[in-house]
Amino acid sequence: MTSTQSVRIATPTADYEAIVGVDLVTRLGDHLREAAPAATAALLVTDANLPETTKQTARDALAGFRLAEIDLLPTEPDKSIPTWQRILEACAAHRLERSDCVIALGGGIVGDTAGFAAAAYRRGVNVIQCPTTLLAMVDASVGGKTGVNLDAPSGLLKNFVGTFHHPKRVLADVATLHSLPAREFAAGLAECIKHAMIAGPFAQPDLGQLLDDNLEAITARDETVLTELVTRNITLKAAVVATDEHETSTGAAGRALLNLGHTFAHAIETLPGLSHEQGKGLLHGEAVALGLVAAAAYAVMTNQLPQADLDTLLARLNRAALPTKAAGLPDPAAIVDRMRDDKKATAGTLRLVVPHPDAAATVTSNIDANAVLAAIDTIRV
Ligand SMILES: NC(=O)c1ccc[n+]([C@@H]2O[C@H](COP(=O)([O-])OP(=O)(O)OC[C@H]3O[C@@H](n4cnc5c(N)ncnc54)[C@H](O)[C@@H]3O)[C@@H](O)[C@H]2O)c1
Ligand SMILES: [Zn+2]
Repeated sequence: MTSTQSVRIATPTADYEAIVGVDLVTRLGDHLREAAPAATAALLVTDANLPETTKQTARDALAGFRLAEIDLLPTEPDKSIPTWQRILEACAAHRLERSDCVIALGGGIVGDTAGFAAAAYRRGVNVIQCPTTLLAMVDASVGGKTGVNLDAPSGLLKNFVGTFHHPKRVLADVATLHSLPAREFAAGLAECIKHAMIAGPFAQPDLGQLLDDNLEAITARDETVLTELVTRNITLKAAVVATDEHETSTGAAGRALLNLGHTFAHAIETLPGLSHEQGKGLLHGEAVALGLVAAAAYAVMTNQLPQADLDTLLARLNRAALPTKAAGLPDPAAIVDRMRDDKKATAGTLRLVVPHPDAAATVTSNIDANAVLAAIDTIRV
């Protein structure tokens, strides 16, 4: 019997619970009554790839509310202002009041887009995040970031338009993960492996051990182990977010740590030929896996991390069926150029999150450029 867990997320502007367990979609109505007591109506935003049974369970659970539904095609090009506007129009057509609620039932694309609509509609209505991918459970649904991509002449600018709007509750029903394709599941594990590399200072030094002890049960989607994994990862993310709600910290701690591996990953995943936009190439989590290897290799080369820690990372990624090398990468200098364009780089200065022993990491712009090039070489086939 899998017990239900709860994690409190408290920031200067918000205080809410993430509930983790099984059969939570069945109890969506009860959670809505608790988290938004004045709500009488809801807009259910669903993910086109969810099994019909999951959506029907949500509809049945919300039978006591005036309910409307909108189904989204979750692709990055459709994570857009036109889709956001469609949700806003659905809110208006359904006459949602300020006290009512948007419910995002799907992966991170649905959560970010529906969350942003909830933030903007009548200057903000309640939202409940009901993530159905591992990545959305451990990362996207927690912390209040919402938004869409901007379709600019230069290409798709990822998450360029959005705002902070915390949910009233997060419901992570791990039973929904049974239908998630294996590659998408592994992509979520990449963020868990990342969390394990920064968890030390957040009083969770054994997050990596949890992975090492359970990776087979995790990939077999054992509900008890998944509940533990998701709970522990939300706890970590909540602790990071509590230190730096709006990513304004330039100090040692803060949300920037969550970008471990991501400067490399963003460069790699936006390179022509490797992007997943046309349904081929790398998923974000796969690019993160490569980015983690590059970041750890950089740390080893600059004597900030023992080789044994890099070996542990490689073993975890292998067991999670994630890539540690990629074919078709351009030469390292082209990747570094892309890294300088990253929206989190300040005025072209490269900033890296560098892993350290004991699951610590630091953010630095004091970079050894040759070591960055050599680190990228280690992830090239
Ligand atoms: N807000 C944040 O803090 C934050 C953090 C990380 C990522 N994100 C965003 O999240 C998005 C990525 O999220 P994601 O990895 O969940 O991707 P996603 O939303 O694209 O979902 C992945 C795929 O799984 C499908 N799917 C979802 N749940 C399913 C289920 N239970 N069974 C079967 N199929 C299912 C989706 O339809 C999609 O095809 C990106 O747009 C990223 O920018 C946001
Ligand atoms: Zn990520």
